[in-house]
Amino acid sequence: MTTREKPNNLWVSRWGFILAATGSAVGLGNIWKFPYMTGEFGGGAFVLVYLACILAIGIPIMMVEIGYGRRGRGSPIDAIRRVARESGRSSGWSLLGWMAMLCGFMILSFYVVVAGWSVSYLWKAISGGLNADSVDGMAAIFGANNANPLNLGFWSTLVTVTTMLIVGKGVQDGIERNVRWMMPGMVIMLAIMIVYAMFSGGFGQALDFLFGFELGKLSGEGLLAAMGHAFFTLSLASGAILTYGSYLPDGSSIARTTFTVAVCDTLVALMAGLAIFPVIFANGMDPASGPGLIFMSLPLAFQQMPFGTLLEIIFFVMLTMAALTSAISMIEATVAWLNESKGISRVKASWGTGIVLWIVSTLAMLSFNVGADWTLAGKTFFDWLDYLTSRWMMPLGGLGMALLAGFVLRNEIFKAELGLSKAQHALWLFMIRYVSPLGIVVIFIDALGIMTLDMGAQWPWLLAALAVFVAIGEMLSPRLRRQLAG
Ligand code: TRP
Repeated sequence: MTTREKPNNLWVSRWGFILAATGSAVGLGNIWKFPYMTGEFGGGAFVLVYLACILAIGIPIMMVEIGYGRRGRGSPIDAIRRVARESGRSSGWSLLGWMAMLCGFMILSFYVVVAGWSVSYLWKAISGGLNADSVDGMAAIFGANNANPLNLGFWSTLVTVTTMLIVGKGVQDGIERNVRWMMPGMVIMLAIMIVYAMFSGGFGQALDFLFGFELGKLSGEGLLAAMGHAFFTLSLASGAILTYGSYLPDGSSIARTTFTVAVCDTLVALMAGLAIFPVIFANGMDPASGPGLIFMSLPLAFQQMPFGTLLEIIFFVMLTMAALTSAISMIEATVAWLNESKGISRVKASWGTGIVLWIVSTLAMLSFNVGADWTLAGKTFFDWLDYLTSRWMMPLGGLGMALLAGFVLRNEIFKAELGLSKAQHALWLFMIRYVSPLGIVVIFIDALGIMTLDMGAQWPWLLAALAVFVAIGEMLSPRLRRQLAG
């Protein structure tokens, strides 16, 4: 099987890719999860470790994914099979593509429910339904919104239909055209919110909180959460970035593009922090209030401020757009696969996928009301989707992709695709062979509950483990290379 010469679709420009990939990366993870995790794990120290993880794990793996996509020019399944065959390796590696595609689909099944919260809050903000005089009152509003399956289902269905409409239109007319205005729009709204926050009286405190790097304050759990979040926020190991990479024109530099996307993603997360925390601090609220931060504390804080309702509306418009540009990317892999490998038209593929997605996401939505006690091992269906994808499938997929690129494929492939200088390439190879896999294994050990790592104390062991990894890997890899040559 050879690399497809002319892909069906390409981004109109390199910026089309950057905007779409940034749109995928920037989502609920940045605006909802990142601020509340930073709040829970104590601020600056968490931010610092998260940035380190983006650099050491996220960026190298993102380069690999884009490389697979562009080299293999296809959906995750086809692209990975093609690059493996090109190196004379088993087509079985395409299992990684299957898992990634399934992972994207599963994430989307619960993501549309959270995105539905965002749209419903937008509606509440507009129609004046977000009035309460305490966090408890806001919690009651949140609870009531979830309690009625017809209400909650309406909002998640709306998100599902919108997503499928955009994806059905195709790469250039659907995805690229929409991210072109949504992404700048989002950044402008964030900027407005930050300017507002500057005058709220809590800005200095927020700066200290976010950028007061005190490593001592970080727990082992915080370190692991930071690593897991680096995966989630860059949309890795779930088919999204790989499929977008398959539409990247040949000339553009994967390394430069990856850096741009990762930097934009990080900036938006930090900007979201700068927009949210000043408002929280100015109103004397607790930054560590967990997942309810933006659905309970923030609306309450806004209510007590001038132009609060307007800001609230801007905030939830922005959150909805961020969620939509991510949702699109999660389903693109499946639609592309049905379209290219099964010859189903894009529109039919979108609606077909959309119907299955609607059924699964409706089951996830029911976890908040009638299905609240359909549990297995204490987890609802919604929880299972989240748990399986973020604890298992993303780390496993990322590990597989890193090892495939680092040890199994011919080195020339990534030399050609990444186009790095000799020294840069050596650094990338070192990261992808050792640093990223070790980071992932550490996440795993913790997720499996084998042991709880306290990296504040155990970092010398981690360095030792890295040295062992490097020694074993470098001993084995010449043999692998010989095998490939022979
Ligand atoms: N990165 C997105 C966020 O931060 C979520 C997301 C989009 C995602 N596509 C993904 C997460 C694929 C995992 C896999 O909200």
